Amino acid sequence: MQTTRSPQPATVTPDATKPHVAIIMDGNGRWAEARGMPRPFGHEAGAGVVRAIVSRAIAEGVGALSLYAFSSYNWRRPEPEVAGLMNLLRRFLLVEAPQLRDAGVRISVLGRRDRLPLGLSKAIGAAERATANGTTLHLRIAIDYSAREALLAAREATPTADIDALTQALGTTEVDFLIRTGGDRRLSDFLLWECAWAELHFTQTGWPDYTAEEFSASLADFRARTRSFGGVAEVA
Ligand code: IPE
Ligand code: IPE
Ligand code: MG
Repeated sequence: MQTTRSPQPATVTPDATKPHVAIIMDGNGRWAEARGMPRPFGHEAGAGVVRAIVSRAIAEGVGALSLYAFSSYNWRRPEPEVAGLMNLLRRFLLVEAPQLRDAGVRISVLGRRDRLPLGLSKAIGAAERATANGTTLHLRIAIDYSAREALLAAREATPTADIDALTQALGTTEVDFLIRTGGDRRLSDFLLWECAWAELHFTQTGWPDYTAEEFSASLADFRARTRSFGGVAEVA
């Protein structure tokens, strides 16, 4: 195919020392069911893991951490499970935001706000305002998120169809490393644009069992990889 566009390497400028890590936190439901418990039990356990992973991300020098908490397709789940998740997210933000602010974390929430319960959207606004000056780690939580919907919205907000402009309209940066827990190997409409050059890592471990130690091991796997972005990898 003939193309008049030149590649735009400027969009692929990863900072290896401050990577953008994305996590699809999957496997909560199966984790609970395997223990004879209702699925929300797995979501509760999973919320505790988020704390440990965020602390470790700071210690590991991660620049941005994007967490998939609730997809726009998760509305299809039974109403009690959805209500439990909305409640859990609200409580998480209310309880964690002050400590995260003290740790220098900036919180942003991706996704639609108009379908969320009022209590949750208020907690999101409060957490974002309270942590707006954080510079240690950018914690991005995806709630009612669909990458394709986000792309359509960004496209509408951008007069030019330029890669950098669209990236900017998405308010995002390249994902360097994507982790999915829970054993499945798919993206489920998470950060499709941003993952163009992401290194992928899949683990069988369900999210409630994912530890800071395994996270560090995942990051070590990432750091050991050679990335060439279409060029020729440098031989050390
Ligand atoms: C991920 O765990 C959490 C959300 C999607 C909210 P799941 O609830 O999808 O757990 P599994 O995949 O059914 O085990
Ligand atoms: C992706 O997991 C969404 C979150 C982890 C929040 P799902 O469990 O919803 O994805 P599928 O249905 O297995 O693709
Ligand atoms: Mg799942």
